[in-house]
This record gives sequence, C-alpha cells and structure tokens, in this order.
Amino acid sequence: MANISPKTTPIYQTSVFTFEDLNALELYFEQPNQQYMYARYNNPNSDELAEEVNKLEGGGGAVVTSSGMSAILVGVLTYCQAGDHILCAEEIYGGSAALLSQELTRLGMEVTYVPGESIYKLDKYVQPNTKLLLVETMSNPLLQVLDVQRLAEETKRQSIKLMIDNTFATPILTRPLSLGADLVIHSVTKYLSGHSDVTAGVVVCKAEDIERAKQITRTYGLNLSPFESWLAARGLKTLKLRMRQHSANGLAVANFLNQHPKVKQVWYPGLEQHPQHELATEQGNGMYSGMLSFQISDELETVNKFMQSLQHIPFAPSLAGVSTSISHPLRTSHRSLSREQQQKLGITLGVIRLSIGIEDAEEIIADLEQALAQI
Ligand SMILES: Cc1ncc(COP(=O)(O)O)c(C=O)c1O
Repeated sequence: MANISPKTTPIYQTSVFTFEDLNALELYFEQPNQQYMYARYNNPNSDELAEEVNKLEGGGGAVVTSSGMSAILVGVLTYCQAGDHILCAEEIYGGSAALLSQELTRLGMEVTYVPGESIYKLDKYVQPNTKLLLVETMSNPLLQVLDVQRLAEETKRQSIKLMIDNTFATPILTRPLSLGADLVIHSVTKYLSGHSDVTAGVVVCKAEDIERAKQITRTYGLNLSPFESWLAARGLKTLKLRMRQHSANGLAVANFLNQHPKVKQVWYPGLEQHPQHELATEQGNGMYSGMLSFQISDELETVNKFMQSLQHIPFAPSLAGVSTSISHPLRTSHRSLSREQQQKLGITLGVIRLSIGIEDAEEIIADLEQALAQI
C-alpha cells in the first residue's frame, strides 16, 4: 500500500484490534497507553477527543463518554459509593437531578440540594459521609453564575470534592480546575461538539483520579464510539471561534430583549442588571456564552403563538448548536422536578430558553422581533 499520511485523524471504525501473537498481547498489558485492544476500553478517536478537551481544561487526564449524563455518572462514581452523601446545587439541569434523586439513591447514595444562598457556606449541609458537591458554572436554565474559586475554598475546608458541570461556560470562558475544582464534566453534545449532531460527554480530572474514571467508563460500558468521537473532535477545533460569536450574539440579543415591552425578564450574565454580572465578566474571560432565558406572559396560548410565529428559530429541546433554537425548560429539561421545585426556581410557563447561534445577530433579532409582535 502507498505510504499514506492523512492530515486529519482517520476514523478507526473497528470494535477490536488484532495482535500478531501472545508476545504482542503481553506488550499491550505492559504498555496500555501505547496500543489498542478493544474499542470499549479505548480507541484512537476517543483518546484524541479526550486529550484535546484535557488540554483545553488544563486537566491531569480525561475520558470521553457516551453522553453528558454518563459523564455525570462517571464523575460521581469516581468519588462516591453506597452509603455516601452528595450535595448538589438546587439550580441544576433536570436530568442531573433525576440521576441523583431517582437513580443513585436506589444504589444507596443520599442527596441533598443546596439553595443558591447557602452554596458558599456548607456547614449546615455537610454530614460525616458527604463526599461531593456538584454544581454548574452557569446554571441551566436561569444562568446563575457560581464563583468556582470560592466554592473550591469551601469544599476544601469541608474536605469534600468539587465537581463542576462546565457545559454552558466551556473552557473558553472558564477553566474550573485552575480555580480549584477537582473534576469537570461536559455534555459534549452541546458547545464542545457544537453542531447538534453528536451525543457525547467528557470527564476531566486530576491525574490521581483518571484511572478510576477510566475504569468506571470501561466497566459500565459508558464509552463513546469512534465515529462520534471523530465528529466531536472535528467540532472542537472551532470551539474558540464559535464561543466568541455565540457570546457577541448573546449580548446583542439580550440587549434587544431587555428593552422589549412584551418581555418581562431576561436572564443573561452579560447584562449589568444580572446579579452575578461582575463575577461572570471576571470568571468568563469577558464572554458570557450564548445561553439566555427570558420570560413572556405565563399563558400556554401566548407561548405557543410565539413558537409558531418564529420563522427561522426552531423549538428544539437541546442547546449550543451553531444555529439558534429555543427551548421550554418547564416542559422539557425541568419537567421531572416537582411543581414546588419549579416554582421555587422561577421556572414558569412563560420562561423561554434561547440558545443563540453564530448567525448574524440582526437575523436572530429580526425573527424574535416579528414573533414578539404577534403575541
Ligand atoms: C448542563 C447540562 N449538563 C448535562 C446534560 C446532559 O447531557 P446529555 O444530554 O449529553 O446526556 C445537559 C443536557 O441538556 C445539560 O444541559
């Protein structure tokens, strides 16, 4: 065969790798990071993706997983087992809350939710068996921004681990490990891959924890396929450019919505009125991401009319792709929460989550403007 030297990594679409003889097999066990054996254990495409995210996050090692949910599971199991107690921010993605409250409790773990006002002072919540605090850098859907450095100081004081879901901020805005966090996860499905065509996750941690995280991923079979790893690695190459554009558009759209008479409230950390605006500016590298929520009238008819009137922005219950979309937290991501929890968080019928893409800001604003005119 000709000497082929591709510029990009090929897709190693194989479930298994071959060995010449038993000596070659022994070499694999002696030098596990030099060779490949079985795609579930590791494969070149997943390793490439993990290494690239690890570099961006400044971690001691990373492992990619089949989804953001499995990344959260791997992250929790890296530190916790039956009998342990987990703390979690009250304002968190509904799926994360469901995993903790509905599944991990069945495996013998205990969960307590910490309200935003107590998150930097955990004395009332920590028990002798508490192992972990899980939070999001920027919360889904109301964009509460948490001070990672302060959280790290508090979790160290309490001798518990700090696990950060950095999906909304991405390492282009915030690198939690450099601020003292112990472990970072992403739904790679979102900004890291960026094109709404991949479901994936990643766990980035300290060097001392990576073997445990990899072992859980392999043994539970939470690995990512070579093809999805390849797609995500391709998307990741433009992350920095995309985040700049998502953020610039985010600010333009937030300013537009903020002065619109039919919009009751806008949640965007780039607005001066946002309660953590200064922190977001400092911790976010001057960018605020493309996620924004806003509230129109809390009536089903109005919300449906608004959705139907949008001509270019689809209602798609995910986020962080290159094209703008809207979602409805109450009926999608936060559906599994109790009515009281939804009310307490302020997630009402009129709250719309906007994932702002990388189109020209004027195009996005024009579509929102004409749809708001019809309600
Ligand atoms: C902040 C956050 N974390 C985790 C997840 C779960 O990721 P996935 O859907 O890739 O499993 C989501 C999904 O929306 C999310 O928004």
